[in-house]
Amino acid sequence: MKAVQMDSYGGPEVLQYRDAPDPVAGPGEIVVDIHAASVNPVDWKVRDGLRKDSAPVSFPHILGRDFSGVVREAGPDVDAFSPGDKVFAVTDQGQEGTYAEAIAIKAALAAKKPAGLSHAEAAALALIGLTALVSLEDVAKLASGETVLIHAGAGGVGGFAVQYAKHVGARVFATASARNRGYVLGLGADEVIDYTRQDFTQAVPPCDVVFDTLGGEVHRRSFSVLRPGGRLVHIAAAPAGFVPPRGDVTVVRPNVARDRLHLERIVELFETGALRPPEIEHMPLAAAAAAQELSKTGHVRGKIVLDVR
Ligand SMILES: NC(=O)c1ccc[n+]([C@@H]2O[C@H](COP(=O)([O-])OP(=O)(O)OC[C@H]3O[C@@H](n4cnc5c(N)ncnc54)[C@H](OP(=O)(O)O)[C@@H]3O)[C@@H](O)[C@H]2O)c1
Repeated sequence: MKAVQMDSYGGPEVLQYRDAPDPVAGPGEIVVDIHAASVNPVDWKVRDGLRKDSAPVSFPHILGRDFSGVVREAGPDVDAFSPGDKVFAVTDQGQEGTYAEAIAIKAALAAKKPAGLSHAEAAALALIGLTALVSLEDVAKLASGETVLIHAGAGGVGGFAVQYAKHVGARVFATASARNRGYVLGLGADEVIDYTRQDFTQAVPPCDVVFDTLGGEVHRRSFSVLRPGGRLVHIAAAPAGFVPPRGDVTVVRPNVARDRLHLERIVELFETGALRPPEIEHMPLAAAAAAQELSKTGHVRGKIVLDVR
């Protein structure tokens, strides 16, 4: 099969589009012919070596964590899927490898792709959906009538989160630059704060929940907008050595589950009309290096998806 492999950490030049061994299904696994693989910020972070101490990879390595495709082979002990089934999934903790024409993955991590979503749309929704659902539904338990601030509402995770928060009946504030205002309002935000011109700490009322997808200084400043008893859920790093300045709020950096249950929750939200796919920039698999450099700008609206076949 063709895949995008790397033999060392480094810049975009380490990504090589070339032949790689075909995967084989072990017990409990399926081999999926990948049709679309999404690009996430973590991909260039792993490539650059930013995770090499906490989560080293072995070379040659194939990046990529979420995808959609068609089951080619079901290994021993797999009852849930048969060859020909259309599925989407997020790889297991510690596994990557979706920048490729095929992957072997535990069947328990995959879910049936709904007919109403293209492969690109399903791939785009998988990891961002799991992340937003674990953060806002499982951890923050965001409820109707609550006020939430979602940072980076035009991004992958933030855009999903805006739609979810609107669906549960929360009052939704989101940050985005002016060019993305219409997009984020269209996802369901009640108010969009242009972070390039406005200080969000002055622009939002006291919040029950802040969803911090940016970390750093945004993380530090987010504490001041929380109500007593509020919840701050973050998926990007706080400043080094940072100690939360308040004891009357809850701060959680969740471990994002990868399982069929959460993927089926994405499907349910889509099928009941609560969720639509993000805006997608399509690029070919062979252009993975360019796709990652675009992701690295930090200003992609929606998602980048690699079309594999
Ligand atoms: N398991 C996990 O913990 C987990 C899972 C998924 C993602 N993550 C992390 O979460 C972060 C977000 O991921 P993502 O996929 O949503 O990223 P993304 O799609 O690449 O986010 C891009 C968006 O961020 C917005 N943005 C950039 N700077 C901003 C600022 N200062 N204020 C408000 N918006 C800003 C941009 O909007 P403008 O162009 O309008 O600025 C752009 O639309 C990444 O660091 C990622 O690694 C963690």
